[in-house]
Amino acid sequence: MVDVRAVEKSFGDGPDRIHVLKQVALQAHTGEILMLVGPSGCGKTTLLSAIAGTLRVDAGSIEVFGNALETMSGGALTRFRSTHIGFIFQQFNLIPTLTVAENVGIPLLIQGVSAGRALDRSRAILDKVGLGARWKERPNKLSGGEQQRVAIARALVHEPPLVICDEPTAALDARNGEIVLELFRQVARSPDRAVIIVTHDSRIFPYADRIARMDDGEIVEVRKQAHPQAPHFIHEHAH
Ligand SMILES: Nc1ncnc2c1ncn2[C@@H]1O[C@H](COP(=O)(O)OP(=O)(O)OP(=O)(O)O)[C@@H](O)[C@H]1O
Ligand SMILES: [Mg+2]
Repeated sequence: MVDVRAVEKSFGDGPDRIHVLKQVALQAHTGEILMLVGPSGCGKTTLLSAIAGTLRVDAGSIEVFGNALETMSGGALTRFRSTHIGFIFQQFNLIPTLTVAENVGIPLLIQGVSAGRALDRSRAILDKVGLGARWKERPNKLSGGEQQRVAIARALVHEPPLVICDEPTAALDARNGEIVLELFRQVARSPDRAVIIVTHDSRIFPYADRIARMDDGEIVEVRKQAHPQAPHFIHEHAH
């Protein structure tokens, strides 16, 4: 469902130019949780942004559900993203002037869902991440972990077939990490959906179906886990 082939990306010009993605090849399959790991600065967020269609690459191809992103116009890409992809950013990107529920409802409004229906669905998913009672508040009243869960709810509310997450559990305690992994597993259990997670959080590695390791702009290893753990075994001491 996601097929990245020979992707190249550099930033900057002249002597300041840095080569961030080097002939990157990676597939994500439906029904799986794929984790992407690697040192800070190796290009993980850059690769996720390219797959999500928010960053154009210099060469290579990225196919998502059979659509070659590099062939799509900006408008087509935006529409495609709004229906097919839920993105959890490393910085949560919540809009401070909107309430928690309004933030969560943004992908639905973009799709043309009515405000009332969007609010109902936002509150339902906020319940699932343990924030049902906080829906009227502004994001800056919430803790880091709570804001992270709002961002997760926003990425899931429109039930996109591809969920892409940049460090989704970094600010979460064990129990909330578990709740979020269970939501991701529910997504990945469905035969035509998948989850790609960038993470440094070793607590959640056992939940991956496959782990891709990136180093200095290259995918250096992809490992399949025969028996990914079910999400209700995360313990505080495992950190
Ligand atoms: N828009 C940009 N302009 C210039 N350089 C950039 C840009 N985005 C990323 N980079 C550079 O590309 C490299 C890879 O960045 P990226 O954010 O993909 O790393 P990462 O693997 O996600 O790191 P981390 O684990 O710290 O989040 C870094 O050296 C970064 O400075
Ligand atoms: Mg990053």
